Amino acid sequence: MLILLTGVAGFIGARTAQLALDAGHEVVGLDNLNDYYDPRLKRHRLEPLIQSPGFRFIEMDIEDAPVLERVFADTRFDAVINLAARAGVRASITDPRIYLTTNTGGTLNLLECMVRHQVGKFVIASTSSLYAGQPMPFSEESIVSRPISPYAATKLAAEALCHVWHHLHGIDVSVVRYFTVYGPAGRPDMSPFLFSESIRRRLPISLFGDGSQTRDFTYIDDIARGTLGALQPLGFEIINLGGGFTPMSVNSMIAQLEENLGTTAIIQHQPVIAADMQDTSADVSKAARLLNWHPTTPPALGFQLTAQWHTQHADWLDTVVL
Ligand SMILES: NC(=O)c1ccc[n+]([C@@H]2O[C@H](COP(=O)([O-])OP(=O)(O)OC[C@H]3O[C@@H](n4cnc5c(N)ncnc54)[C@H](O)[C@@H]3O)[C@@H](O)[C@H]2O)c1
Repeated sequence: MLILLTGVAGFIGARTAQLALDAGHEVVGLDNLNDYYDPRLKRHRLEPLIQSPGFRFIEMDIEDAPVLERVFADTRFDAVINLAARAGVRASITDPRIYLTTNTGGTLNLLECMVRHQVGKFVIASTSSLYAGQPMPFSEESIVSRPISPYAATKLAAEALCHVWHHLHGIDVSVVRYFTVYGPAGRPDMSPFLFSESIRRRLPISLFGDGSQTRDFTYIDDIARGTLGALQPLGFEIINLGGGFTPMSVNSMIAQLEENLGTTAIIQHQPVIAADMQDTSADVSKAARLLNWHPTTPPALGFQLTAQWHTQHADWLDTVVL
């Protein structure tokens, strides 16, 4: 397949592109390399991809409809994987508009190009944040019309647009809802990366609440594999990709990182943020049924690999802005 993959310099995009190339696909990767977090991390993730023969990188913004149109006119894609997004729950409270224009408007631009250029398959990343307030484990059948963060609202709107474009234009859509993804070369605004770096550098970490909140942490390789699995024709489906092991408290995650980094965390407790969820837990039976997807990396191994990456890259990570 020739795949257009947006957000390719991102945490999940880079790993998904690498696994796609390893599987023999060709990938055109788009990213605007914005500075929401230190762009050197994005360039670090891009380096090995750019050296791969089946890969081409285009630095551009998915909000730029005319340029996007030229990309589709130049190359006939078999599928689009849309991972480009503003992805931070807390940052979406202070800057909601960019979340709307990228997550929802950018998705609309892609769907319109796909219809004009007859690209039939769309995979889009969505989020477990939509399940706030729903009974656990979170199932795709839950009604998710009451988001509690601007981020979740813009992802819900993107999901809705996908359904409309499926209904009106027959685009085949897989919406994959991810649950707290972690692993090497992660995102500095997420606790697994931020806490790993802070523990390693002996800096204080801000812990919102008492750390008893739980997450269905999902290892990056499992997520990338599930995302590629979702390229198969499905009609329109929403599929959880998450966890598969017992959800873990943030305190337990810190303990695992301390053990693997060989030093203790300096914790500063902060009040709970209203847009944060207390617990997440995924029902992944649909992913097993439709995609034959089973997560294979338990947290004990995943956090060990994550800590190892931070230790191995300590020299240049020291200069990355947290
Ligand atoms: N990491 C998680 O735990 C998680 C959980 C749920 C959903 N998701 C979703 O998965 C996707 C990937 O997330 P990630 O964790 O890799 O985030 P990330 O921020 O590392 O990656 C997103 C990439 O998109 C790029 N981008 C942002 N706006 C763009 C634009 N307008 N045009 C072109 N490129 C743009 C960024 O530069 C970045 O490289 C996102 O859609 C996110 O909402 C992630």
